[in-house]
Amino acid sequence: MYDNVYVLDHPLIQHKISLIRDENTGSKEFRELVEEISMLMAYEVTRDLPLEEIEVKTPIAIAKTKVIAGKKLGIVPILRAGLGMVDGMMKLIPAAKVGHIGLYRDPETLKPVEYYCKLPSDINERDLIVVDPMLATGGSASAAIHFLKERGAQSIKLVNLIAAPEGIEAVHKDHPEVPIYLACIDERLNEHGYIVPGLGDAGDRLFGTK
Ligand code: URA
Repeated sequence: MYDNVYVLDHPLIQHKISLIRDENTGSKEFRELVEEISMLMAYEVTRDLPLEEIEVKTPIAIAKTKVIAGKKLGIVPILRAGLGMVDGMMKLIPAAKVGHIGLYRDPETLKPVEYYCKLPSDINERDLIVVDPMLATGGSASAAIHFLKERGAQSIKLVNLIAAPEGIEAVHKDHPEVPIYLACIDERLNEHGYIVPGLGDAGDRLFGTK
């Protein structure tokens, strides 16, 4: 589709996505699976982190070995469903700082309005990973990326579990340089803005609301 849109087709990710799609999967299992999928996706999303060589004294000798170099990381969940992806990501990148962005859609202008934003003070020095399980119209993701850029973010990746083609198109149009990492691309949006076949409302399924 685009050369910076990546579908992570690892069998474990695909298997777990099938489980969360199932309407019979309850909130507890759903939350655990979203965490596991996020952890697996973090592995791929961090594949391009630069390394530097260091020396470590083992019990036997000095080893020339590698550690992650370069910029620090930040994870930015879009409230509320994005919260479900934070713990899985943090398992692999525990030193990351977490910022939060909350958006709602103004009923008159239909434009996303920020109602909450708390970010690490040094976001301009961090590689940011914006997370939200569902990329539907792309409105929230695009607005969140826009707000981050306004506050000085220089490096942003977007990670979603399931995307509609419409959402990918919208984010890519607004932010062509932002790579998008997905577990799968579904058929379309329905008239209510839900992804088809999708998994329903990710926030409700994570938190047991309805
Ligand atoms: N948000 C969701 O939680 N699910 C969808 O299908 C679309 C947006």
